[in-house]
Amino acid sequence: MTSSFRITLLPGDGIGPEITAVARRLLDAVSRRHGFQLEYDEQPMGGSAIDASGEPLPASTLAACRASDAVLLAAIGAPRYDALPRQQRPESGLLALRAGLGLFANLRPVKIVPALVGASSLKPEVIEGVDLLVVRELTGGVYFGNPKGRVEADGHVRAFNTMAYSDYEIDRIARVGFDLAGQRGGRLCSVDKANVLEVSQLWRDRVEAIHAAEYPEVQLSHMYVDNAAMQLVRAPRQFDVILTSNLFGDILSDEASMLSGSIGMLPSASLGSSGPGLFEPIHGSAPDIAGQDKANPMAMVLSAAMMLRVGLQQEAAAADLERAVETTLEAGYRTGDLMAPGCTPLGCQAMGEQLLKALGD
Ligand code: IPM
Ligand code: MG
Repeated sequence: MTSSFRITLLPGDGIGPEITAVARRLLDAVSRRHGFQLEYDEQPMGGSAIDASGEPLPASTLAACRASDAVLLAAIGAPRYDALPRQQRPESGLLALRAGLGLFANLRPVKIVPALVGASSLKPEVIEGVDLLVVRELTGGVYFGNPKGRVEADGHVRAFNTMAYSDYEIDRIARVGFDLAGQRGGRLCSVDKANVLEVSQLWRDRVEAIHAAEYPEVQLSHMYVDNAAMQLVRAPRQFDVILTSNLFGDILSDEASMLSGSIGMLPSASLGSSGPGLFEPIHGSAPDIAGQDKANPMAMVLSAAMMLRVGLQQEAAAADLERAVETTLEAGYRTGDLMAPGCTPLGCQAMGEQLLKALGD
């Protein structure tokens, strides 16, 4: 029997629909070749959902995601929604989706494609051979902590958030990090700010406890987040798996993306303990180039590959997509974000065509 998977597609805003169209054609090509079927259910999310229904994550979209085998999201957000109350902004829809699906583990791999070594703002000898994975906690920390708010008192305005973690939240993300380190280079660096923050001290204590009890074979180190930010650009090859909290992971993963030359190259997977995973590029909706056929669809295609591998256990099809990206870059095709002398510039759609050709379709 042919296996068949239900994919909820969330094209979102800005460049989202353009890169989704490319990913979908490539997914169709590899699923045909590898003998499985993908059924898509496209749902509104982010600004496009606000325009249609007034909320960034309609209940019907969340229900569709829950009922599917995997969710593929492109990007959300646009400046015109920035003035809305926080709960009605596109970003709140994304946080509600992560929480609603219980996606506490966010995996952001950074692997340097040899053809792009020259595209990074860092020296080739610094980034050659970089292959690291940021494991970011995604449903806790200061993003979700209470109390939070804004008050007026004594003639001043004061705003506050709470950075909080419970032991079980740290334990479960630590296990994800240790498991993945065990499958990779066997090294895990836990990043915190335990020299200043109580919440980071608990983080460190729990990571050490889980390490001693369950993963003594993994080599564990700890690093303060300010030092980690520096080490990432000084000597990024020292890292295998970086385990960190929600806010620190948000910042460090954008920084790490520049090792690869463009934020337009990095995919991510968000997973819970059960149910569908969410797969999305780490870049945003790039409103400045939206609708102009300039976007780099590669992070989206690589996110589709992660969906195939991690979400649907279709390793061969995932590897085909990743190879198509590498071959196309090696042949010198580039979108504007990666353009270099001697390379051939392509728009988003034409890049999609090249990727299809590289697949042999
Ligand atoms: C990311 C993004 C999101 C985050 C925003 C859009 C809410 O920056 O996925 O890294 O901060 O988590
Ligand atoms: Mg971010």
